[in-house]
Amino acid sequence: MGQDLNKISRVYNSLSNEYTEASSGEHEKKPKDREILDRFSREVGSAKPVWDFGCGSGHTAAYVKNLGVEISGLDLSELIIEQAKIKYPYLHFQQGNILELEFDNNSIAAVLSFYAIVHFTEDQVAEAFREIYRVIKPGGLFLFTYHIGGETIHLDEFLGKNINIDFMFFRNEFITLCLKKCGFGSIDLIEREPYPDIEYQSRRAYVFAKKPAD
Ligand SMILES: C[S@@+](CC[C@H](N)C(=O)[O-])C[C@H]1O[C@@H](n2cnc3c(N)ncnc32)[C@H](O)[C@@H]1O
Repeated sequence: MGQDLNKISRVYNSLSNEYTEASSGEHEKKPKDREILDRFSREVGSAKPVWDFGCGSGHTAAYVKNLGVEISGLDLSELIIEQAKIKYPYLHFQQGNILELEFDNNSIAAVLSFYAIVHFTEDQVAEAFREIYRVIKPGGLFLFTYHIGGETIHLDEFLGKNINIDFMFFRNEFITLCLKKCGFGSIDLIEREPYPDIEYQSRRAYVFAKKPAD
């Protein structure tokens, strides 16, 4: 059984202001994020459409848009989407569920997804990868991030609010196998140590994967 999507949505609705403030300008403090997003933007170029799934309040989509990528954002939480629309009115954002994407097969040139799988159980991660594989065009790129490890952390409080949610960490072997089972290839997994003081002290993974070209 997966983590309840209504619960995830309620949590981000309740945190929408605080999360928007906390994540604003985040990539300025994280050189590896910038290096990875710069690479993503170079590889995507002018291909369209490009989506940020689990976009939160939109700061990653906005960073990539500044590099010239035509990107839109999708998130489960209606209120976080409202915040994204206010902060980045020049971008398109919409509410939606990664596990049941309302997009046609082979219709999206590239997907990025920063820390959106962190609330998923392993079964939900497999489901998310299958859905993303389904909607990406042959030859299309998928970039995502997660916390490396085997643990699950339960939070009752975050950014000064009472919440009730689990954060899942994943082993690289599980993620790689899961991607391969869906059909993804060209998997490039990049790890980094946490930045001191500015983020939770967990090892991070950035993964570039490609849907094979026809
Ligand atoms: C840890 S936040 C990351 C947000 C943003 N990508 C960032 O890096 O700041 C996880 C985000 O994923 C969204 N999310 C979780 N499950 C989702 C689902 N099934 N479909 C779409 N978005 C989802 C949450 O609402 C939340 O905004």
